[in-house]
Amino acid sequence: MPETSKVDYSTKIPNNVGLTDDQRVLKALEQWHPGYIDWWMSRGPEGFQTSEVYLRTAVSIDPKGWAKFDYVKMPEYRWGILLAPRQEDRSVNFGTHKGEKAWQEVPGEYRAMLRRLIVVQGDTEPASVEQQRHLGKTAPSLYDMRNLFQVNVEEGRHLWAMVYLLHKYFGKDGREEAEELLARQSGDADKPRMLGAFNEATPDWLSFFMFTYFTDRDGKMQLESLAQSGFDPLSRTCRFMLTEEAHHMFVGETGVGRTIERTCQAIKEAGIGDPADIAAVRKLGVIDLPTMQKKANLHFSLSLDLFGSETSTNAANYYSSGLKGRFQETRIEDDHQLTNAYYPVSKLVDGKVKMVDEPALTAINMRLRDDYVADCAKGVERWNKVIEKAGVNFRLKLPHVAFHRHIGEFANVKASPEGDIISDAEWARRKDQWLPSKADGDFIESLMQPCWERGRFAPWIAAPKVGIDNKPGDFEYVKMHQA
Ligand SMILES: [Fe+2]
Ligand SMILES: [Fe+2]
Repeated sequence: MPETSKVDYSTKIPNNVGLTDDQRVLKALEQWHPGYIDWWMSRGPEGFQTSEVYLRTAVSIDPKGWAKFDYVKMPEYRWGILLAPRQEDRSVNFGTHKGEKAWQEVPGEYRAMLRRLIVVQGDTEPASVEQQRHLGKTAPSLYDMRNLFQVNVEEGRHLWAMVYLLHKYFGKDGREEAEELLARQSGDADKPRMLGAFNEATPDWLSFFMFTYFTDRDGKMQLESLAQSGFDPLSRTCRFMLTEEAHHMFVGETGVGRTIERTCQAIKEAGIGDPADIAAVRKLGVIDLPTMQKKANLHFSLSLDLFGSETSTNAANYYSSGLKGRFQETRIEDDHQLTNAYYPVSKLVDGKVKMVDEPALTAINMRLRDDYVADCAKGVERWNKVIEKAGVNFRLKLPHVAFHRHIGEFANVKASPEGDIISDAEWARRKDQWLPSKADGDFIESLMQPCWERGRFAPWIAAPKVGIDNKPGDFEYVKMHQA
């Protein structure tokens, strides 16, 4: 079967890349498959592997009707390899090869760089599944549990997507890298995942929502810039992944939004005048807004680190080589080569944060991070609308980019959420006001009681406005049959 918009389900691995005619890659993937299932069973969602979950599965790449909803046992999910349709006459849109025909094979000179990009992206996909594996047990509703598992199976599919590229285009090295993707483990002392944020714990559901809002959004930005790639199979792979990724950020934004909504409602009902009166609010069994701000501070700053150093010769090389572009590259009005262009970069100058013009080529990471921050800010404004509508006097805001950083320009200084550079002593004194403390974590954990009755929600979170796939409020999104 040639490449098509229809997905072939006759092979063990559903695909639209003509795997039946590509026995070498089909065999390699079939060999990789048992290790993947082992990984899923031992490091994927804990429990629930015999439950029937109302999941969407990608059955086409037609943007108007690509998904089908049905009850599925997670280990039987059809993890497929799906590439967005090939665009005739697509060309390389940026860098020194701008205007050449897009590459259908890996250019030899860029093989190592491309492999690295694919492996780094690929490593994040199973990592988040590992980070979230304990959450099913404390799900605040069947609706939320289903959303968690949907995100998990799709991250699994994204791993398949990257592994396909490795097997198809990188021979023996690719097969070795594919094995390593199953060998590394989030938070492991000896073989951790490649990027910091993907080795952090996701201890509770508020963390999960913040992670899917902030960290999956980093994923979106990375996929968007890889979707610009001159290497066409990578571009097409990432374009289809973005279709699924949108739901992950929806889960995050609405999850935080519903938590805020419930808190504000409880504050109003109890007639609490000061939303910063943490003790009074916590007595109501909801998460106070200052603690939500701290959680946002944490997840936002960890996610900023994923963009790497503000200036980077690697990023410049990826760009010049036509491998990784900018966010919405083709919509930007410039020469797409950046040979004489500059871009403002936030830097530490004489103990203060200042904007300094740097060559735009080396500032590619900074630019992507700026686009990310702007994207993050929109959702925060929507959260503030929820607070405002409830008549509660409080505003959430993104901390300064210098706050709590471990990579780049601000890695070696301490900064307040306002961006003031402060001493280590002041940081030590005040960090619990800005980041979740042990006590905050304990309180949140005390609320994480499972609520698995149809149509019911844990008392700390509001019900969603609409169901998944337009299902009614009491729909049974997960049928337990716990083994
Ligand atoms: Fe993903
Ligand atoms: Fe995701």
